[in-house]
Amino acid sequence: MAAGDSFYIATPIFYVNDVPHIGHAYTEVAADVLARWHRQNGDDTWLLTGTDEHGQKILRTAVANDTTPKAWADKLVKDAWLPLLETINIQNDDFIRTTDERHESAVTIFLQKLHDDGFIYSGEYEGYYCVGCEEYKQLDDLMETADGDYAGQLLCKIHSIPVEVLKERNYFFRMSEFQQRLLDLYEARPHFVQPESVRNEIIQFVKQGLDDLSISRSSFDWGIKIPWDDTHVVYVWFEALLNYITAIGYGTDDANFARRWPATQLVGKDIARGHAVIWPAMLMAADLEPPKQVFGHGWLLVGGEKMSKSKLTGIAPSQITDTFGVDAFRYYFMSAIHFGQDGSFSWEDLSARYQAELANGFGNLASRVVAMVNRYYAGVVPAPSDDTEAETRVQNVVALAVTHADAAIGRLAIDEAISSIWTIVDELNGYITVQEPWVLAKSDETRVRLGTVLYTAAEGLRALAVLLSPVIPDATAKLWEALGAAPALGQLLDQPLTDAGRWAQLAVGSTVSPLEALFPRIETPEP
Ligand code: MSP
Repeated sequence: MAAGDSFYIATPIFYVNDVPHIGHAYTEVAADVLARWHRQNGDDTWLLTGTDEHGQKILRTAVANDTTPKAWADKLVKDAWLPLLETINIQNDDFIRTTDERHESAVTIFLQKLHDDGFIYSGEYEGYYCVGCEEYKQLDDLMETADGDYAGQLLCKIHSIPVEVLKERNYFFRMSEFQQRLLDLYEARPHFVQPESVRNEIIQFVKQGLDDLSISRSSFDWGIKIPWDDTHVVYVWFEALLNYITAIGYGTDDANFARRWPATQLVGKDIARGHAVIWPAMLMAADLEPPKQVFGHGWLLVGGEKMSKSKLTGIAPSQITDTFGVDAFRYYFMSAIHFGQDGSFSWEDLSARYQAELANGFGNLASRVVAMVNRYYAGVVPAPSDDTEAETRVQNVVALAVTHADAAIGRLAIDEAISSIWTIVDELNGYITVQEPWVLAKSDETRVRLGTVLYTAAEGLRALAVLLSPVIPDATAKLWEALGAAPALGQLLDQPLTDAGRWAQLAVGSTVSPLEALFPRIETPEP
């Protein structure tokens, strides 16, 4: 991408029937890392997230809690979903709620257009409905169980709860008409749906043929009214998908819409079909461009199963951040799991990686280098003299890491980007072990060499601060401060990542200040 290009990234909007768990936080952090990366590179970046507040699931939760759905949603947004963004340090540019007036009115405009253009008709539907998914299900999506409370009933494979048989007269979207255009889209743009496993599944699904989609409900009224028939509300998925365009001015602010759309969309693989099939078909019907990309990431597993609140395996993000800190949370989930695959969460793994990679690997490196500049040069970054092969090697490792990391981010391979950056951590740690600056400091004759070694190490840290800032913003901000880099180079967030490999940016003579442990030792990891 050229600097200044538009980069619009969106997370799914989250149901407010319950509080967030680390699975939700995972998508948020991934989107935030990508957004921060692009923002720091000077792209015209926009990160959207929000909440999905209509539909039967929210209505039932509110009723069970003796309140109205709007009051329930207000409470959950205020007490749980907005605070989540603070807890995990998300720099979102907007937060959309599907109960926002801007959303409701733009949904109305969109629907009316599809109706006027003949893409919506009235019909009858009967099928199995899972309230957990808010979706009609095919038999393939269901299972039967012989024991337990639900013995003999048909259960949703995702939620393990019984489905309901619904028969309704409602409005339909002519989705079947878009089968070939969707297949053409997947073929013409192989990166439209990623990763490959999700792409293949989507293509298989669409090849089997598409049914028209029931897009209204008349058995309850917690939703946006169908503009030409107020006895129906819009089906919650159909309306929720529209948030990605209603938030950027569809129907009301054409200039902003043209500036932002199309979006890169991160979704869990369980909702990839909605985003890679229904959503582009809706956009095609309205003569709008499909998203730039739909990326279906994997699930966080606990005990081998998708972690979920309904199965009582949910872990609150604050359980982790309270002990390990926000940066460790972000780093762990982004580096330990291959983005696009499932990953098992365990406290042991988190704790081990925290200690090995953040505390001993990166944190210790930063503390030692800063401490040595303080001790041997009274806190003033020394001038390097002639480079040896060892310095050239460090410089090459840094330059290569930048190229690889930027390319990996372009593929949304966040974990690969981090491992590329980590080659610098490993290289610098090895460099210091071999060069032994504490030995060089013992004699005047090796003083010149000591300057080269400490400059090289400090300049390597400068590059690391820049490159890791999208992932661990707090620790890198502290490091930037301790390196005294800002007076000559400006703020950390203004350092373009693609330029991070250019050597010798840290000014000789910069004033280094003491650095507290970036990732202190943690005695009792388990809460
Ligand atoms: N409201 C719909 C999305 C509508 S978007 C137009 C929804 N909400 S959700 O709250 O149930 O889920 C939101 C996201 O969280 C999904 O992408 C889902 O995959 C993700 N996750 C829920 N549990 C998860 C894990 N255990 N692991 C990873 N992601 C998980 O679906």
